[in-house]
Amino acid sequence: MLKGKTILIGISAGIAAYKICELVRMYKRVGANVRVMLTPNALNLVTRLTLESLSQNEVFVENFDIKEYKPEHISLCDEADILVLAPATANTISKIANGICDNLLTSTVCAFNKPIIIAPAMNTNMWNNKFVQENLQKLSDNNYYICNPESGFLACGTEGVGRLCKLETIFDKTIEVLNNNKKLQNKKIVITAGGTLEKIDPVRYISNFSSGKMGVALADVAYHMGADVTLVSTFSIEKPYNVEKVQSTIDMEKEVTKYNNNVDCIIMAAAVADYRVKDYREQKMKKTSDDEIVIQLVKNPDILKKISAEKNTTKIVGFCAESENLLENAKIKIKNKGCDYLIANDISRKDIGFSSDENEVYILDNNLNIEHIEKDSKLNIAHKILEKIFE
Ligand code: C5P
Repeated sequence: MLKGKTILIGISAGIAAYKICELVRMYKRVGANVRVMLTPNALNLVTRLTLESLSQNEVFVENFDIKEYKPEHISLCDEADILVLAPATANTISKIANGICDNLLTSTVCAFNKPIIIAPAMNTNMWNNKFVQENLQKLSDNNYYICNPESGFLACGTEGVGRLCKLETIFDKTIEVLNNNKKLQNKKIVITAGGTLEKIDPVRYISNFSSGKMGVALADVAYHMGADVTLVSTFSIEKPYNVEKVQSTIDMEKEVTKYNNNVDCIIMAAAVADYRVKDYREQKMKKTSDDEIVIQLVKNPDILKKISAEKNTTKIVGFCAESENLLENAKIKIKNKGCDYLIANDISRKDIGFSSDENEVYILDNNLNIEHIEKDSKLNIAHKILEKIFE
């Protein structure tokens, strides 16, 4: 959703400046063009070379650096779709709110007439300062998007409000602001993510290597497209939409079946354990003198197959992870499961799939039409999958 967009990042001199290197990478990973400008003081905290290498673009600090007969702050404004000021210091916030243009960054913000996101970060007392708050309120009242700082351990050694918000919050806000595609408004979507966990005894379990990244990417994108999202996840994660944590396959079955025929779509992106331990031991299993032990497993319910058989109004989407004969197996699987769409991915490849931020998939429908989605970030793949399902 950020592919091809130009994001202009403004870094002012808060110690959180170093975190912005990762934000640059997050935008680059999804195909955005990133330009970076800094206040002269910020250059003491993070180097031009680092930011130039990560953004693959020239980095700007000084005013009066005129290229191609245009002052730099005006060219930067023309090019960018959005300006993200992070970290925003008390000083820079206050200057901006009062129309002061004493360096390239403040001049650019003053001339920028497209969306601006501000992520403040500062010491708690500075954050609580009446004038800083008034200036920030002025910006908020004038349609600047504010990503408020969080509470926590600060670089100055104290605890309190002032820590830069999570980079994901800034990233999500950028998508939200730039993306007017609210195509999934009024749609209710349930997405499963992660690998289910089957307990053996109070300290041991059987699970799989699923990272849950694809499911979370689908949930994030569906949320940005306006959907009412529930993520049924095997791990704890904080999100602006509803997250229901489950552990075992039986837990997941209970949770997911509740939504069948009550929502528009269920996407089963989780890696669900096919078997669970037959006899759960209430007490920790002891090591014995035997060289081998046997743990008996019993079949778990196939949630996808079950909800597909019981579905009436809900679109059901399954995932299929194969290490060989991907498309042949996928064609058999969509018929066997009875779902509307099946997303097939090849887990034998090291560069995509499990734990990776990238994927390459095929989307099969129940008439066995196949669409190939080329290798891309999981967020962009998620976008294409949702576009296809709700075509
Ligand atoms: O049969 P297989 O595990 O390859 O199918 C994968 C798809 O089926 C995924 O969408 C997964 O979430 C779902 N599944 C399920 N219940 C199971 C096993 C897999 O819903 N017991």
